[in-house]
Amino acid sequence: MNCAERLVSIFGSQAEVARHFRLDRAVVNNWVKSGYVPARWAMEVERATEGKVEAVEVLNEANAKKPVRVKSRPDDLFGSHLPGSDAMSDFAPAKRIHSFHPPQRTLMGPGPSEINPRVMAAMSLPAIGYLDPVFVDMMEELKSLLRYAFQTKHALTFPVSGPGSVGMEYCFVNLVAPGDKVIVCRNGVFGGRMIENVERCGGTPIIVEDAWGEPVDPQKLEDALKKNPDARLVAFIHAETSTGVQSDAKTLVEIAHKHHALAIVDAVTSLGGTPVLVDEWKIDAIYSASQKCLSCTPGLSPVSFSDRVVDHVKARKDKIHSWFMDMNLLLGYWGATTRTYHHTAPTNSLYALHEALLIMKEEGIENAWARHTRHHLALKAGLEAMGLKFLVKEEAQLPQMNAVYIPDAIKEREAEVRKTLLNEFNLEIGAGLGPLAGKIWRIGLMGYSCKPENVMLCLSALGSVLSDMGLAIHVGEAEAAAHGAYAALHAKAAQHKQQHKKRVA
Ligand SMILES: Cc1ncc(COP(=O)(O)O)c(C=O)c1O
Repeated sequence: MNCAERLVSIFGSQAEVARHFRLDRAVVNNWVKSGYVPARWAMEVERATEGKVEAVEVLNEANAKKPVRVKSRPDDLFGSHLPGSDAMSDFAPAKRIHSFHPPQRTLMGPGPSEINPRVMAAMSLPAIGYLDPVFVDMMEELKSLLRYAFQTKHALTFPVSGPGSVGMEYCFVNLVAPGDKVIVCRNGVFGGRMIENVERCGGTPIIVEDAWGEPVDPQKLEDALKKNPDARLVAFIHAETSTGVQSDAKTLVEIAHKHHALAIVDAVTSLGGTPVLVDEWKIDAIYSASQKCLSCTPGLSPVSFSDRVVDHVKARKDKIHSWFMDMNLLLGYWGATTRTYHHTAPTNSLYALHEALLIMKEEGIENAWARHTRHHLALKAGLEAMGLKFLVKEEAQLPQMNAVYIPDAIKEREAEVRKTLLNEFNLEIGAGLGPLAGKIWRIGLMGYSCKPENVMLCLSALGSVLSDMGLAIHVGEAEAAAHGAYAALHAKAAQHKQQHKKRVA
């Protein structure tokens, strides 16, 4: 059956297809007669059939029936081409290029996470100038939504244009002057990147090392600060995405302050998925990223700085070595009073972040944290029922990043597992990094991806792939364990509600 006939069979008749697409029946009749649906309807067909007929199938069929021909017209305006030369082929591959239509994936890797359709819709709203008064009003709302996300009153809270790595660099470039000693706690990939940043800023990193999969040991930080009383900065990763471990940010910041050091905290994976209480924990400088538990498009890095940080940066005698990153200059655009050109802000991405944060506020941040924990517990129950073991001990496990050991029997074939999940189930999970490559899988439950249908899909897809490979795994038991965890959580919540009612009465 061609796509036109499939549409008729899905909707029941040509008239019904016409009604769904708001077209004249004759048009649909013409699709059926000519044996294809024109390419421009591809996305609409996928949407209306909820993916039963994919856009790419419509496009391929339309293209086979009616290939697009690019007409070339002689044009002397820009000079004539050399005889026999094809101006395009020097710069573009010979194969015909079509509009890009990505598949619909379930994203359960270490990020990016799936994006709420409301956020995608916001992103496609009309472009306006970054100094347009309407946009400027939106920027103020965005800053206050970010303060809510970070649980802070810090005036200097805004999104830096660029991914999480830019937020990281922004903190180091502004806070670290050449010659500064910085204590960096490393227990995974991203602590290593902090060390790189310190070195590139001309600072001296003092490394507090912990095993991958372990949280940062507060005692080791304390010892390092005692040994290095001239260190004025401490940096650590709150949620280490490479291992799924969470460190005790509150205690680490307390120790830094006891030794008169400022704390730089990476909250790329934690923000929105697990409590990040900037004011209560007295965090000085913090950065995150838009594409993890905030479930926005990648490319923005929310940051927040205390007044002590602003004073520290202002007191620097040297010129900050990056023009783009210089906090003093960017304040002219994002600061409280002025709005002057600094760089062209990514306006549509900022609409998207505004919408993503609004969704979080509507849900309530405590509810978002609780949702991440709930689905983590169900996923964990299912994975453990399959016999998979977690890398991180229970009390330090991140709900949004579940790292499990790959069973020995299939270690050699781990990439094949991920490939099958992607190709057959449209499901993405993450591989291990660095010393954990080939040893663990990283299963994300971040933001909009953190929902029961994803938990169940992951258990049944992973379970069936592993059992096809010969492991003694019963998918039904894993699913039952997850359902059991949900039921236990519901019962507990109902009990709490009852007790609360009694107390109030
Ligand atoms: C903890 C942590 N820090 C920093 C980054 C860098 O963020 P981005 O990839 O958005 O540049 C990541 C990315 O995964 C991360 O997980």
